[in-house]
Amino acid sequence: MYQVAIKMILNGQPWAGEVPAGATLLEVLRDQLGLMGTKHGCGIGECGACTVLLNGKAVNSCLVLAPQADGAEILTVEGLSRNGQLDILQQAFIDAHAVQCGYCTPGMLMSAKALLMENPHPTRDDIRRAISGNLCRCTGYEAIIDAIELAARRMEGEENLCKS
Ligand code: FES
Ligand code: FES
Repeated sequence: MYQVAIKMILNGQPWAGEVPAGATLLEVLRDQLGLMGTKHGCGIGECGACTVLLNGKAVNSCLVLAPQADGAEILTVEGLSRNGQLDILQQAFIDAHAVQCGYCTPGMLMSAKALLMENPHPTRDDIRRAISGNLCRCTGYEAIIDAIELAARRMEGEENLCKS
């Protein structure tokens, strides 16, 4: 397949290379770069398992052609933790028992990350809307909503500590 040279900032690091012109961002992340945290579910934009952030917005990476990511900042679930510390959302998912089989979890985390970056004080309805494109076959969603609320509360706690 015809190859295209692209550059992106991937999980905070510059990356440059050639990708097949017709490959999706999901295929490049998993098959070319070995970032297996982003899941392949439906492949047609229905399940949200493949959600990553592209320039801070949650996108279905199965619907983005890799060449469209040229020049973009991409954040995958692997980029959430910093210096061996889980992201506040990852810890909240553990603490709120929001993970069962875990297949939806990376996508849920990335949709939640996009939400909290844009709206650090979401209502439960805001959270429901933000994850409305992410399907979970196990949890019934309530624990996931609890986890995202918990992360928001903890973020607020940190903000207050910083202000005091
Ligand atoms: S794999 Fe992309 S939305 Fe399902
Ligand atoms: S935890 Fe299994 S699909 Fe969500």
